[in-house]
Amino acid sequence: MSVPASATLLHVVREQIGLTGSKEGCDDSECGACMMLLDGEPVNSCSYLAVQADGSAITTVEGLAPGDTLAPLQEAFLVAGGVQCGFCTPGMLISATRLLRDNPDPTTDEVRLELSGNLCRCTGYDGIVKAVMEVAARTAEKSAGD
Ligand code: FES
Ligand code: FES
Repeated sequence: MSVPASATLLHVVREQIGLTGSKEGCDDSECGACMMLLDGEPVNSCSYLAVQADGSAITTVEGLAPGDTLAPLQEAFLVAGGVQCGFCTPGMLISATRLLRDNPDPTTDEVRLELSGNLCRCTGYDGIVKAVMEVAARTAEKSAGD
């Protein structure tokens, strides 16, 4: 695929590839709504040139769910009231996924710190943090039972 030299990763993913889960909020690396994983690390794709991503593995929110079912984190966000308008949710899920991958048993403070680059104007964050902690607790229970 060829892309304009000045096109952002967010623009190419949404407009050329057609994956519209990642959102454009501030367009200035402030809100995290556009966050994706680039080779496993979160980037604000509104401020990242598509050409810089050449050869990298990119994961958007669409890639978190296995097939047509929700990932446990997505389900937990819904159940815990971590989703209202949903605009921040794709970026929140990307951040939380990375956190739980690197730190499967985080403290509440660690969750809040990790998600501090993702702004939510609706939920007050409590439901989001609760969802992440619930998934972490379930993972810990499962590991203890193995
Ligand atoms: S839209 Fe990219 S950080 Fe806000
Ligand atoms: S749910 Fe609306 S911005 Fe977070």
